[in-house]
Amino acid sequence: MRVFVAGGTGVLGRRLVPQLVARGHQVTATTTSAAKLDSLEQLGAEGVVMDGLDAVSVGEAVAKARPDVIVHQMTAISVAHAGKPDMKHMDQWFAGTNRLRTEGTDHLLAAAEATGVPHFVAQGYAAWNGIREGGWVKTEQDPLDPMTGTPAEPGMTAIDHVDDVVVKAGGAVLRYGWFYGPGATDDLVEPVRKRQFPVIGGGAGYCSWVHLDDAASATVLALEQKARGVFNIVDDEPAPASEWLPYLAACAGAKRPMRVPKWLARPLAGDVAVVMMTEGRGFSNAKAKRELGWQLRYPSWRQGFQEELA
Ligand SMILES: NC(=O)c1ccc[n+]([C@@H]2O[C@H](COP(=O)([O-])OP(=O)(O)OC[C@H]3O[C@@H](n4cnc5c(N)ncnc54)[C@H](OP(=O)(O)O)[C@@H]3O)[C@@H](O)[C@H]2O)c1
Repeated sequence: MRVFVAGGTGVLGRRLVPQLVARGHQVTATTTSAAKLDSLEQLGAEGVVMDGLDAVSVGEAVAKARPDVIVHQMTAISVAHAGKPDMKHMDQWFAGTNRLRTEGTDHLLAAAEATGVPHFVAQGYAAWNGIREGGWVKTEQDPLDPMTGTPAEPGMTAIDHVDDVVVKAGGAVLRYGWFYGPGATDDLVEPVRKRQFPVIGGGAGYCSWVHLDDAASATVLALEQKARGVFNIVDDEPAPASEWLPYLAACAGAKRPMRVPKWLARPLAGDVAVVMMTEGRGFSNAKAKRELGWQLRYPSWRQGFQEELA
């Protein structure tokens, strides 16, 4: 197939492009920076400079590639695009990403229609953001949490937009868990090593993780099978912060994380961190396994953290 990867240089794009090439697909992959075109070509793709927030740029790039499928992996979360991670002011940290998930998705879908691209796969999110009621592990049937009144609310609205317009267009939304793997957790491991990433309250809130290579293999299956609808792309073991965070610290050779009560964490780390660690809900991958035939190389973060962080 001719595959157009919007955002080919990100942590996931860099693992996805080689898997696509190895499966015999012809890949066009985008970056906003001409300096990164060489790195895309080294991965086996044809590199293209494209600004996902510029409808003309998107339209031209898609028309030239004439792909069989568009894969939307554009975010702006890295320090280069968004500055230092800031959970406390997530609305500001994620402002560019939210635009890529709303306007950027719309531009890509419009370009798909104009060029007659028959299929569309987009990045969604399912880490700790399941609806905060009932059980700790959610399926695709359960709503996501809107995080009303917190700095995560605009991000959740943007995620909902992706789900809505992509499913209506007959595409697939892959709701990835929290990424780990090459380059994905550097910004997390640093504060963990400095003991600046504590367990909040009892750490009862759940989170789902996924290794980048498993996220990439699910993406390959979704596009090869022309999948439609929403899929949770997470590992087999959703877990509370009280379990995964001390384990991650141990794998990274750091001291055990501190524990801080909610009242102290709220002014220091902000509402989003408190919700995530105390009330977060994780996700089930049963649908992706059943319908896509997805098999994980890293069924649990326990094995994956050991390999990646040691
Ligand atoms: N589910 C998750 O846990 C999840 C999901 C996504 C990201 N993250 C985390 O976020 C951090 C940064 O991720 P990342 O390294 O993938 O970087 P990123 O800054 O989020 O960029 C991702 C991709 O989007 C592209 N992009 C950015 N702005 C664009 C624009 N205006 N138009 C078109 N494309 C644009 C980037 O291209 P260029 O930079 O080449 O221009 C890159 O290919 C990592 O720690 C990662 O683990 C986590």
